[in-house]
Amino acid sequence: MKHLVAPSLLSADFLNLQKDFDMLNQSEADWVHLDIMDGVFVPNISFGMPVVKCAQKASKKPLDVHLMIVDPDRYVEEFHKLGAYVLNVHYEACTHLHRTIQHIKSLGMKAGVTLNPHTPVSVLEEIVCDVDLVMLMSVNPGFGGQKFIENTVDKVKRLKEMIVRKGSKAVIEIDGGVNFETGKRLVEAGADVLVAGSFVFGAENPIETIAGLKAL
Ligand code: DX5
Ligand code: ZN
Repeated sequence: MKHLVAPSLLSADFLNLQKDFDMLNQSEADWVHLDIMDGVFVPNISFGMPVVKCAQKASKKPLDVHLMIVDPDRYVEEFHKLGAYVLNVHYEACTHLHRTIQHIKSLGMKAGVTLNPHTPVSVLEEIVCDVDLVMLMSVNPGFGGQKFIENTVDKVKRLKEMIVRKGSKAVIEIDGGVNFETGKRLVEAGADVLVAGSFVFGAENPIETIAGLKAL
């Protein structure tokens, strides 16, 4: 499949979200990525339900929700009500990951599992056929604008090999430090979805930047 692009709202202008949603709606963005941080799983707090509710109203693009919170099962139903298309939970935050994945899918959402940079893809052997998406963190989660971790390119290749070998239909999403240069190498390695925050919203022309990421 041609890869997708999911701009991350974390780097948007929170004083004027309507303007940024108008831009995203006009752009070639496929999804809008929403980073939910609880200050416990990651050392930062981002935004919560009121902002997701605004996104649900303002976005014409499907919402790709990335939960960086402990015990995400507590909020699966609430994010479903708030219109999440993809719900990503961290492998490191789920004691009963299989149950969490089934719960997400039973509500009709796409279920994604996310790995921190230090977590090997081998932990997914027994779950990769149950998920719709695997997201690899290419920075340590918690902040936008960090430097891309190079090991991710080889990690994508290892994940792709596992997905093919197991006959999984999971797509591969990458989150953190994506720009034209890292994005190109990630797509070549097998990435299906590129998240980009600071690279899109920090650009002089975000619409063109999104188009450029789509064209990689
Ligand atoms: C980091 C978040 C990312 C972040 C990416 O914890 O999960 O989605 O917004 O930002 P950039 O693209 O600036 O690295
Ligand atoms: Zn994210």
